[in-house]
Amino acid sequence: MKTRDVVRVVQAHRQLEGAGFVVRRPFPAPGLLQVDPFLLVDEMGPFDVAPGEATGAPDHPHRGFETVTYLLEGESGHEDSAGNRGTLRKGDVQWMTAGDGVVHSEMPSERLQREGGRMHGFQVWVNLPKKDKRVPPKYQEIPAARLPKATSSDGKAHVTVIAGEALGQRAVIATHTPILYQDWSLEAGGRVEQPVPENFEGFAYVFQGDVQVGGRTVKDGQLAMLGPGEVVTLANTSSAPARLLLLAGVPLREPMVRYGPFVMNTPEELEQAFLDYQAGKLGQIQR
Ligand code: CO
Repeated sequence: MKTRDVVRVVQAHRQLEGAGFVVRRPFPAPGLLQVDPFLLVDEMGPFDVAPGEATGAPDHPHRGFETVTYLLEGESGHEDSAGNRGTLRKGDVQWMTAGDGVVHSEMPSERLQREGGRMHGFQVWVNLPKKDKRVPPKYQEIPAARLPKATSSDGKAHVTVIAGEALGQRAVIATHTPILYQDWSLEAGGRVEQPVPENFEGFAYVFQGDVQVGGRTVKDGQLAMLGPGEVVTLANTSSAPARLLLLAGVPLREPMVRYGPFVMNTPEELEQAFLDYQAGKLGQIQR
């Protein structure tokens, strides 16, 4: 089994999002517009918000891809033009297929807005293949308790499986194309060899401590792009805990044009998305 090397390390930049919260964003960035099929990775927080100060992303549309929200701390309420509403809590995942189009809002829960508290989470955008860009919108909401988790035999590596398979645990979420999305916690001395199928492209994003990815040190806030191979080694050789997301998937290799909340295959389709949104065809949230 060929081990994947790290071919490039990218430092996340800080970016203001939504109604004014800061994210760490490894991409898109100048020089790294996507890691096909992934379009964006945002780490929100961790930060503490004071009572009455929490902000989020009020009503906005999406078309042509999927938004995957993984909340590590805090509470996030959401509602959309299809009538779905709910609250994401610590450890929950929401996999939203925007497909043909949806208008949604992603806001701190009323409790968090009232009382304040700690927020930390990820949003990842996954592109849809051309044939699926206009599928009806769909939600998969998976509470933390239903996400498969596993620990390595030496007890030093822990994984939560959002998509794909790790340490014998298979994800409960259905994806349009083969995707691997895992949250790894490595205690001091923890080391795993995780299969990443040869036809996948992907990366590790470290968000706590230092991790040796394919033998190369990757620090908090850095993304490591994986070279070709079938397995990646993740090791924590430091004395402090470390944590990372591992994301990989089969690249679509299709033309991609994006602007704001829309990601399509041609400029004409992008234009159409704006026209449809302006004409109200993506609906609106009923309140
Ligand atoms: Co959104």
